[in-house]
Amino acid sequence: MLVLRSVSELCEWRTELATQGRSVALVPTMGYLHDGHLALMREGRRRIPPARGELAISIFVNPTQFNDPADLRSYPRDEAGDLARAESVGVDVAFVPDDGQLYAPAASTFVEVGGLDEHLCGATRPGHFRGVCTIVAKLWQLFQPSVGLFGQKDYQQLAIVQRMHRDLFWSGEVVGVATVREPDGLALSSRNARLGPSARAAAVAIPRFLDRVRERHAAGQREAASLIAGAEQALAPGRIHYVSVVDAEQLQPVEQVDRPTLVAVAVFFDGVRLIDNVLLG
Ligand code: PAJ
Repeated sequence: MLVLRSVSELCEWRTELATQGRSVALVPTMGYLHDGHLALMREGRRRIPPARGELAISIFVNPTQFNDPADLRSYPRDEAGDLARAESVGVDVAFVPDDGQLYAPAASTFVEVGGLDEHLCGATRPGHFRGVCTIVAKLWQLFQPSVGLFGQKDYQQLAIVQRMHRDLFWSGEVVGVATVREPDGLALSSRNARLGPSARAAAVAIPRFLDRVRERHAAGQREAASLIAGAEQALAPGRIHYVSVVDAEQLQPVEQVDRPTLVAVAVFFDGVRLIDNVLLG
């Protein structure tokens, strides 16, 4: 596996690949890789087999998407472990940029997608998606992937990246991959490593709550308020950041579930903010 640390090395590699007519599958990450990230990589490999091109990842804890400096500082990192895990699923190239490579000192260009960031994480984390879009735009430009893979766990991020891709006429395709979960249902997340044992045990309340929402929907409940009724008790001792029912396309709140709908939650356990969602209809 090739490890590239500068933009110029990355451009050389990409140019060489283009002369060979080979494609790229890209999985952007912030590292501390778990099986959810690896599922994206496996799907990338499936779509771009070795005969057709290369499987690439990026590992970069993107400062512009953190609105809380403490959250950025405490973001877990394990470069050696990440590279070993990536290699184990057949990644060809890992871009692990040195400081200053992706944001030059005077960088002042940002990418913003309107509308889709008004609710959910957009409302509670100002500037977050501007940071995500900016870094994804830089990576898309550098890698020129045929396929870029993103997890449905971060549904709003996936929807925003899909919109940006469409609006800016980018090449290739944005692909969403189903959420990978622990045996008890908790969605895998790099942040889970920061949960103490009792918070970890309590966090199972999130998938249980979402299961209950799914069951109520399956039983015919279509009122948003009734679908999420009792959330505070169900998610205790977690502290709710939001529990929202939005249409799955525009991410605007709905009162009745009469089209594809997303129920999304963000909950703090032990000061660690966890997100998850379920798609209905
Ligand atoms: P990160 O949190 O490292 O996640 C990288 C990718 O893995 C994202 O597309 C995310 O949705 C996906 N992912 C995380 N947990 C998952 C799970 N349990 N199942 C399936 N996929 C999962 O998301 C980011 O990084 C950043 O915002 C990034 C897109 C890299 C831009 O900086």
